[in-house]
Amino acid sequence: MDVRGAKIIGLGSYVPERVLTNFDLEKMVDTTDEWIFSHTGMRERHIAAPEQATSDLAIEAGKAALADAGLAPEDFDLVIVATVTPDMFFPSVSSLVQGALGATHAGAFDILIGCTGFVYALSTASAFVQAGVANRVLVIAAETLSRIVNWEDRSTCVLFGDGAGAVVVAPAEPGEGVQGFELWSDGTNSQYLKVPAGGSRRPTDEAVLSERAQLLYMDGHEVFKLAVRGCPDVAEAVMEKCGVTHDDIDWAIFHQANRRIIEAAAKRLDIPDERVVCDVEKYANTSAATIPLALDELYKEGQLKTGQMILLAGFGAGFSLAAGLLQWTK
Ligand code: ACO
Repeated sequence: MDVRGAKIIGLGSYVPERVLTNFDLEKMVDTTDEWIFSHTGMRERHIAAPEQATSDLAIEAGKAALADAGLAPEDFDLVIVATVTPDMFFPSVSSLVQGALGATHAGAFDILIGCTGFVYALSTASAFVQAGVANRVLVIAAETLSRIVNWEDRSTCVLFGDGAGAVVVAPAEPGEGVQGFELWSDGTNSQYLKVPAGGSRRPTDEAVLSERAQLLYMDGHEVFKLAVRGCPDVAEAVMEKCGVTHDDIDWAIFHQANRRIIEAAAKRLDIPDERVVCDVEKYANTSAATIPLALDELYKEGQLKTGQMILLAGFGAGFSLAAGLLQWTK
């Protein structure tokens, strides 16, 4: 018996109004627009207003995806939110979103993994739909990285921004829509990207606050090395699994962490520039939200055509790697 398929039937995104440019950052830390742009491809990023938390961004993106799918909140069985910047430890962001949207028939849970979160969440939603356990799943990736970066550390604070992207996953014909996923983890390299304190290993106390250990720590060099190797590896694995080659890829959306990493991944996979999405210039790295933000932008621009093959691939804390292939059907 053919397993039923899963496909995206609605998309939405949201970025906060406030824009922080490289020139603004020049006034905050010892950096320059030239350094940031030449090392990362970034020019500006959006920053949440003081009263906005991650769930507020997620709700806006979720509402937009619902409207795009033409569905009501009660039509959903499940809400999944990928985030590493939840409003608080619990309740989950997905519970807050489910409540605020009035998705009265939906269960809700978060996926906390980092920048690969959207691909992990999309694969989870697809599996629920393919197995017949759910019929409508709202998948949201939302982050307020601005709340956990150390604004005195020039090596990290320039890299991140806030935003959210959402998709609605629904049943499809066998073989239609989602083609497959690869989800990888290498926990032996977990030390290079973390929030060292504030959890059960080292609860927040005065020493933590004075060391600023409750904020994001990253060894950029090591992450860079792991990313330029791992991102194309996981992308290649999903293409091989699904029996497609680089020639079949119409759009490649890699995690938007650095233009140089995106270019290196595309070069290794032999995917030409015009088929590779890069929006780091406008949004910087919004962690789990980068891939759905970029996907929604392509969609809004009218660039996605039925039958096109879309490659998604990301890397992040863990060290985690994830890739997915979608055939566009919406
Ligand atoms: N402005 C000016 N100088 C800076 C800045 C800055 N904002 N930040 C660092 N520098 C300096 C460093 O101090 C260093 O100076 P030194 O040589 O005197 O010691 C110099 O610039 C070069 O630093 P490098 O670390 O060698 O710079 P590199 O070219 O590697 O770029 C970067 C750094 C952009 C962080 C890069 O390593 C990178 O992108 N790494 C991957 C980051 C990433 O992808 N993170 C996210 C992954 S997962 C997630 O999304 C959460």
